[in-house]
Amino acid sequence: MTKQRVGVLISGRGSNMKSLIAAAQAADYPAEIAVVISNVPGAGGLAIAAEAGVRALVIDSKSFGKGADGKRKFESALTAELKAARVDLVCLAGFMRLLSADFVNDWSGRLVNIHPSLLPAFKGLDVHAEMLRAGVKIAGCTVHYVSAEMDAGPIIGQAAVPVHSGDTPETLAARILDEEHKLYPECVRRIADGEVRLRDGIAVLSGAPASGALANPVRSPR
Ligand code: GRF
Repeated sequence: MTKQRVGVLISGRGSNMKSLIAAAQAADYPAEIAVVISNVPGAGGLAIAAEAGVRALVIDSKSFGKGADGKRKFESALTAELKAARVDLVCLAGFMRLLSADFVNDWSGRLVNIHPSLLPAFKGLDVHAEMLRAGVKIAGCTVHYVSAEMDAGPIIGQAAVPVHSGDTPETLAARILDEEHKLYPECVRRIADGEVRLRDGIAVLSGAPASGALANPVRSPR
């Protein structure tokens, strides 16, 4: 089996990256993690990747300067490393830099992200507190292709969790994160197995989810 080569971009603790690395350790998983790149020096995920034997490197976004010029230079360094690692698919996993339309277009159909809400609801940052303020009863996470507009690309998979009355942003985030760790590896598996096609701006899935991770019913409150 020729495995798809995945590059994971992080900025922080890297728990989603860790779940992708763990899934890719299975012999029958159709993808391997070719490289992890952090735009933040000292990001927690770097040590986790290195410990797992995955090549991990830093491209410090701040070192390229501010403005469009700095962004362009940072992104060409990113692309150079991803190409050098012969990456087929780029997974954003807590990557906190907005990517330019040029970068997104260059990697179109090969660039995915995980977001801790049921998109298209609750885009952007601080979504857990926002969901609690809105009083939603069901929350969740979404894996989607990245488009130039933030958190708006074609949806590949989603998983739902209940919101409890005593939830804080932290307890809700932890419940959603548990689902993220199952959903992301499952979506990458389906992409690598060729089960995801883009048709008219919508991701169409064939085959069956291996673990029921996709479109899961809301679990009964614990
Ligand atoms: C996750 O909640 C992810 O959905 C969001 O950023 C967070 C990253 O967490 N995009 P981690 O670094 O993967 O632990």
